[in-house]
Amino acid sequence: MKHYTKEDDKRYIDNLKKRIIELKKERNAVIIVHNYQRDEVQDIADITGDSLGLSKAAVKIDSDVIVFCGVHFMAETAYILNPEKTVLLPVKEAGCPMADMITPESLKDAKKKHPDAVVVCYVNTAAAIKAESDICCTSRNAVDIVRSLEEKRVIFVPDKNLGRYVQTQVPDKEIILWEGFCPTHICVHPDQVNSAKKLYPGAEFVAHPECNPDVLELADCITSTGGMIEYVKKSDKKEFIIGTEMGMLYRLRQDNPDKKFYLPTEGLLCANMKLTTLGWIAHSLEFMQYKVEVPEEIRKRAHSSVNRMLAVSGEKKWVSISGT
Ligand code: 13P
Ligand code: SF4
Repeated sequence: MKHYTKEDDKRYIDNLKKRIIELKKERNAVIIVHNYQRDEVQDIADITGDSLGLSKAAVKIDSDVIVFCGVHFMAETAYILNPEKTVLLPVKEAGCPMADMITPESLKDAKKKHPDAVVVCYVNTAAAIKAESDICCTSRNAVDIVRSLEEKRVIFVPDKNLGRYVQTQVPDKEIILWEGFCPTHICVHPDQVNSAKKLYPGAEFVAHPECNPDVLELADCITSTGGMIEYVKKSDKKEFIIGTEMGMLYRLRQDNPDKKFYLPTEGLLCANMKLTTLGWIAHSLEFMQYKVEVPEEIRKRAHSSVNRMLAVSGEKKWVSISGT
C-alpha cells in the first residue's frame, strides 16, 4: 500500500493554491484574511488584518467578490459595507460564540431599562445587534469610540472584558456591561502569564483586551491584533509573550525574524477561526458559496452604526447619533 508522504502533502497544497489563484481571476475576487487564520491561508491573502483594518479595507475594494476568511460577523460586516458585492464565507459554520451571547430582544430590553444610555456594540456581533446599536467599535478603537460620545452612560455589548477595559481608560463614563466573553481569551490564567514571564524574563507581555482583567493587569501593552503587529515592530525588545489566539504568531514571526514570540498557554486557539482551509476556499470560489447577506432594512441600520465608528477613526464624514 502506498503511504501518503510529506511530498504528496506539499503537492496537494501547491495545487490548491494554483487553483485558488485561477478561480480568483475568473471570479474577479479578493481574499481577505483575519490574523487568526491558518498559516497557509494567511499565505494566499490579498489583505490580512484585524477587524478594524479589514472593515476599512472592505470599503475600498473594487472587485466583484469578497472571500472572507474569518468568522461570520466579519463577513457580514464586509457585506454591510459592500451590499453590491458578493461576500463569501468559505465555511458556513464558522461563527463567533461571543457574538451569539446577545439577541436583539435582550438588547431591546436593556435599552428600555436604561433609556438614557447609548449602545456601543463590539464588531463581534450579528448585523441585527449592530442595527439595534448607536455605534460600533473594535478592540482597536473601543476606547476612542466611547471617549468620543457626548452621553455619560453607555451600554457596552457583548464583551464584558473589553467593556471593563474601556471603563478603566474612560473613567468619566458609566459603562453598563453585558455578560458576554470570548471562550478562547477567557482561558488565559494569570499564573500562566507569570510562569511565562519567569521563563522569559526579558519578554514583554502583549495582551488582547478580551482577556480577563487579572491578566490585563500583567500586560505591558493591551491592544488589538493589528495593534500588536505595530507595537512589536516598533519595540526594541527582542522577546514577547502574546496573549491572543495562536494564529497571530505566524504573522509576528514573519514580520520580525529577529524577535521571539511565546504563548502563555497552548490552549489559545479559536476553533471557529481554524475551520477555514485552502480546500474550503477553493470550494467557495468554485461554487460561489456560502453567500453572506443581510436583509436591507437591517443592513441600513447596521451600516449607520459601522459608519459612525469609521467616522471616529477618520475614515468617513462624522454622522452624529442624533442624526444631525
Ligand atoms: P481583532 O479586532 O483584534 O482582530 O480581534 C478580533 C477577534 O475576534 C478577537 O478575538
Ligand atoms: Fe470570537 Fe473569541 Fe474566536 Fe475572536 S477568538 S472569533 S472573539 S471566539
